[in-house]
Amino acid sequence: MKRKKLIVGNWKMNGLKSDLVHIIDISEHAAAHPNADVALCVPTTLIEAAGKISNYVAIGAQDCHAHNDGAHTGCVSATMVAECGARYVIVGHSERRTDQGESNADVKAKAQAVMARNMCAIVCIGESEDQRNSGNAIAIVIEQLNLSLPDVDNIDGALCIAYEPIWAIGTGRIPNMDEVAEMHLAIRQALIIKYGESAHDIHILYGGSMNGDNAQELLSIAHVDGGLVGGASLRATKFTPVIAAASRA
Ligand code: PGA
Repeated sequence: MKRKKLIVGNWKMNGLKSDLVHIIDISEHAAAHPNADVALCVPTTLIEAAGKISNYVAIGAQDCHAHNDGAHTGCVSATMVAECGARYVIVGHSERRTDQGESNADVKAKAQAVMARNMCAIVCIGESEDQRNSGNAIAIVIEQLNLSLPDVDNIDGALCIAYEPIWAIGTGRIPNMDEVAEMHLAIRQALIIKYGESAHDIHILYGGSMNGDNAQELLSIAHVDGGLVGGASLRATKFTPVIAAASRA
C-alpha cells in the first residue's frame, strides 16, 4: 500500500507570537503540495494560535504528561493540548529522554494517553553514536521500540514512529541510505509482529538533519514514509523544499 508521505516540523523551544507569520507562510506553501501531509509541532504556548491560522498544516505538541490531571506542576496533559487544537503529539524525543530522563515506559504511557484522546502519537526512537559504532544499532533500536510502543487494539491512523539517530540530530550528518533502509525495514517488521496487518498503515518517519538537499533521496527509501524535521522547519524557505520532495515521492 502506498502511504501519502507525512512531513512533521518540530520547532523545539523556538517560536514566539511574532513567529506565527512563518506558520501562515508554511501553510500557504503546503497548500501548493497536496500530495504530502504536513504538520508542525510547535511550543505549547503557540498551539492554539497556530491552529487558527494554518489551514493546510496540522498543528501538534512536542510532549504531554501521561496523566490526565493532578499534582504535576509545570506539565500539560494530552487532554489539554487536544483542547488547544493539537492533532499530533511527539513523545519520547531523544532530547526529552536525555534532558528529562524519560524512560521507554514513560514514553509508552504518554503514547497511550495521546491515542486515547484521538490524536496521533509520534513515538521517537534512535541510537547514539556509540551504539551505532558498536554494530548493534538495529537490535538496540528495536528493543527501545518494543518497550515504547503503546498497547492498543486499534491503530486507526493514530500512531507514527520517528526513527532519529541521535548523532544525526542538528549535526548535518545522516546515516547512509542502506543504514536507513535496513533500520526502517526492521521497524516495520517489529510493528507487524506487535500490531499485525494494521502496522502497514503506520507512518515511519526519518528524522535527523533532513533538509531540502537530502529529503528526496531519503524519502525514496522503502518504509521511509515521511520526515521529522527540526532546524529546516522553522522557515518556509527551508521547509518548502522538503514538503515538495515529499509531494513528489
Ligand atoms: P534536526 O532535528 O532536523 O534539526 O536534525 C530533528 C529532530 O530533532 O526532530
